[in-house]
Amino acid sequence: MKEVKIAPSILSADFAKMGEEVQSLQACGADMVHCDVMDGVFVNNITFGIKMVEDIRKLTTLPLDCHLMIVHPEKYVERFAKAGADIITVHYEACQDNLENVLRLIKSTGVKCGAVINPDTPVEKIKDVILLCDMVLVMSVFPGFGGQAFIPSVLDKVREIRAIIDESGKEIDLQIDGGITAENVSTVKEAGANVIVAGSAVFKASDRAEMIAKLKA
Ligand code: DX5
Ligand code: ZN
Repeated sequence: MKEVKIAPSILSADFAKMGEEVQSLQACGADMVHCDVMDGVFVNNITFGIKMVEDIRKLTTLPLDCHLMIVHPEKYVERFAKAGADIITVHYEACQDNLENVLRLIKSTGVKCGAVINPDTPVEKIKDVILLCDMVLVMSVFPGFGGQAFIPSVLDKVREIRAIIDESGKEIDLQIDGGITAENVSTVKEAGANVIVAGSAVFKASDRAEMIAKLKA
């Protein structure tokens, strides 16, 4: 089993004290910072952009995992890379048949790349690019908001992608994002996810370090 990494999502952080929140994640044992970038077009919500990544980059040595929930992500890849992103993941639903080009563009900037599929998008749609990725993200909620309920039907896709990755022998991370709690985290890990995004579970916890340790165990 690949190393389990916990990537708390700062969508659930207090934006008015984002600096402290990001430093708290590092102090509490997080492995990455999941940055949910939303443009109000691809999803019905707006969060933050390049400047936020630039500013939090100065405050943590943790890898910044930028989940771009935006249309035309190819227009912003270089700027997120320059701002300090370590991983940039883009949605199949936003790129469609341009997905491979966008993944290659991300790689060309020296940053790790990932493809993302929504709960209702079949694995088939990204099959041809999985082996190009450093990480594949399976959404277990429809993107746009934290605190939503986990959608169990995505587990079959996690299993399918895990089998493809293991068959290839490549070191590709499988990330799951949305509705993950201490109660369902072992189920998603058994299905083959090894990078766990958790927003509300971490930020609503009375003890963040304890919650991160629980999700990781
Ligand atoms: C939703 C985001 C998720 C979300 C996860 O569009 O991509 O990363 O912040 O939040 P929770 O863990 O609360 O579902
Ligand atoms: Zn996300």
